[in-house]
Amino acid sequence: DWSMQNFIELEMKKIREQVGDKQVLCALSGGVDSSVVAVLIHKAIGDQLTCMFVDHNLNRKGEVEQVMKTFTEDFDMKVIKIDARERFMNKLKGVSDPEKKRKIIGNEFIYVFDEESSKLEGMDFLAQGTLYTDIIESGTTTAQTIKSHHNVGGLPEDMKFELIEPLKTLFKDEVRALGLELGLPEEIVWRQPFPGPGLGIRVLGEVTEEKLEIVREADYILREEIKNAGLDRDIWQYFAVLPDIRSVGVMGDARTYDYSVGIRAVTSIDGMTSDWARIPWDVLEKISVRIVNEVKHVNRVLYDITSKPPATIEWE
Ligand code: XMP
Repeated sequence: DWSMQNFIELEMKKIREQVGDKQVLCALSGGVDSSVVAVLIHKAIGDQLTCMFVDHNLNRKGEVEQVMKTFTEDFDMKVIKIDARERFMNKLKGVSDPEKKRKIIGNEFIYVFDEESSKLEGMDFLAQGTLYTDIIESGTTTAQTIKSHHNVGGLPEDMKFELIEPLKTLFKDEVRALGLELGLPEEIVWRQPFPGPGLGIRVLGEVTEEKLEIVREADYILREEIKNAGLDRDIWQYFAVLPDIRSVGVMGDARTYDYSVGIRAVTSIDGMTSDWARIPWDVLEKISVRIVNEVKHVNRVLYDITSKPPATIEWE
């Protein structure tokens, strides 16, 4: 694509001019925007870029490994993985209010990033995946007044860095095209939206290791079956949630008293409104059977058939 190649060349030139022989830091989340920024900057300045990936224990199954493999092996980039799993779990202990959980996760991310980045010597620039739409919408969307949104990588303005935001003239579809042009894998370029607080808001109520494990496994099965059914591009967003309830069931001859898993799947243009996706019954059945058979402590599967509004896409 000529215009994309042109954009890449121009931006690389600008980045080199801005950075000179200095160092750039980038907070990598595994999402489309931060991935594209990181690869673009790496193409321009190579090892003058260091990426930081914070493992907060709230990612989906396989995601941390996939991000590390893609960037360190396939793209040969410098990525520092910060294991902050315990830290986040400790902070979340005993907290069940959704807004409190969101704030804790958002703040903790900033503290971790701040601490870890100050250990690195000589970082002058911070790269961010700000898009054109982020600039127009900042602070004023309805969604933001309903739930406090945060993006992993959304950092305070009083940091010591100078910002580099090479995507700030682009829309999401252009960022995807750019990502493909730069050779990023489809799983990253077409990754469905994933909230900054991650699985922390898909485990309803208090977040524990056991509940995270359940939602992670159920979500993995759901994603696999949606992909097998060839529906992964039609459904805008699909995921498992773990409501904080248990109910009675029967397994063999024994009574069980276990968790229910909720399936959320929506079609949408921009996330502001959405309709529930009409997943075919036989696909839903496969998902349900696999989840109760393969995920310990689950004896019931629920399907969310509400649109937004009045519901939101996420359950918290
Ligand atoms: P809701 O649940 O408000 O979600 O209908 C709308 C869209 O936004 C995503 N979402 C977030 N994205 N940080 C984000 O970057 C967040 O804190 C956050 N919370 C929700 C949600 O997954 C859906 O796509």
